[in-house]
Amino acid sequence: MKVRAAVLREMGLPAPYAESRPLEVTEVELDPPGPGELLVQVRAAGLCHSDLSVIDGSRPRVMPMALGHEAAGVVLEPGPGSEGFEPGDHVVLAFVPVCGECGPCRAGRPALCEPGAAANTAGTLLSGERRLRDASGAPLNHHLGVSAFSERVVVSARSAVKVDPELPFAVAALFGCAVLTGVGAALNAAAVSPEDRVAVFGLGGVGLAALLGARVAGAREIVAVDVVPEKLELARELGATHALRAGDEIVDAVREVTGGGADKAIETVGSERVLAQAYAATRRGGTTVTVGLPHPDRTLAIPAVSLVAEERTLRGSYLGSCDPARDLPRFIRMYREGRLPVDRLLTHRLSLDQVNEGFDRLASGRAVRQVIEL
Ligand SMILES: NC(=O)c1ccc[n+]([C@@H]2O[C@H](COP(=O)([O-])OP(=O)(O)OC[C@H]3O[C@@H](n4cnc5c(N)ncnc54)[C@H](O)[C@@H]3O)[C@@H](O)[C@H]2O)c1
Ligand SMILES: [Zn+2]
Ligand SMILES: [Zn+2]
Repeated sequence: MKVRAAVLREMGLPAPYAESRPLEVTEVELDPPGPGELLVQVRAAGLCHSDLSVIDGSRPRVMPMALGHEAAGVVLEPGPGSEGFEPGDHVVLAFVPVCGECGPCRAGRPALCEPGAAANTAGTLLSGERRLRDASGAPLNHHLGVSAFSERVVVSARSAVKVDPELPFAVAALFGCAVLTGVGAALNAAAVSPEDRVAVFGLGGVGLAALLGARVAGAREIVAVDVVPEKLELARELGATHALRAGDEIVDAVREVTGGGADKAIETVGSERVLAQAYAATRRGGTTVTVGLPHPDRTLAIPAVSLVAEERTLRGSYLGSCDPARDLPRFIRMYREGRLPVDRLLTHRLSLDQVNEGFDRLASGRAVRQVIEL
């Protein structure tokens, strides 16, 4: 079947993207779902910095690729053997397919699913197949098993989680990346407790979701840090006890307002320089969780002895260290109870044709989460 999708053919085209138009919105051929796969009508797809990092080349991926990885939609047709899904089911798509059988999956760490990661790197679905072709018949790569910026997609059923049909699609989409990643970083990776003074560096969709996660965990202080004043304002409204403008003095400023350093710091910028600040802003015994995705060439230098003599912890968190099948329903319930107001992250609604302009807005810090409605 023919569908309209946003295809990236070349990384690193110059901004502004409204002019260079790295994403071509074009008609592509979508094959039917294979065994264990689903045909899904995408109803909403969010713009994440990880998409922008593929566009600007700081997160290299196989080209050409149908971009996007944060989506919600409706199952149109389950492929053979896709147990548990019916036409009409509402689903959120997670950006790591969970095979359920590999070592990390069995150990309860499905965010590290090995066949899932291999498929994502190869630009295929979990089956190893590509279900998208361009007009000339050449295969297109899938982005993280989702390729959200498309009217319809074929995904592994292992990428999909059924959700409450009452959830508006534009909000549901955010759960697929920003909420899983940010709330999961706070609850699963940082394990924020009511005793904690938490600092969140970077207040995009992921960072503000981490802030909401810290709030739902009852953190006694939440220090929000960003370079954009409007983000600081929003962070205050969402429950930050302190909001600080990032700059050279930020480490001292965080240490001062937390009375000696944060117990937990969560970095969601994607800069090793900011990660070093987040680490330095924690107190003795503190934990730093890094969520941002810098270019693979970037390295971090920290005083090695501080890990030991000050019992500091530095850990990464992918997909919020979540099990999507467990955590999506959990986070959605918190939203419905009014405890996790993630709809506040949604700042813009776009059409598929406005996707390049949307990435200019994200790059300039003028948006939190923008959702393409289809
Ligand atoms: N680990 C994961 O599973 C995962 C999932 C999604 C996104 N990510 C990564 O997380 C990062 C954030 O994603 P996002 O979609 O929220 O991005 P975003 O662009 O919406 O947010 C980034 C924020 O960082 C702020 N910032 C820039 N420089 C700063 C500085 N020096 N100090 C403090 N703040 C600064 C920006 O103003 C912006 O508000 C990206 O690197 C993205 O690739 C990781
Ligand atoms: Zn993302
Ligand atoms: Zn697995």
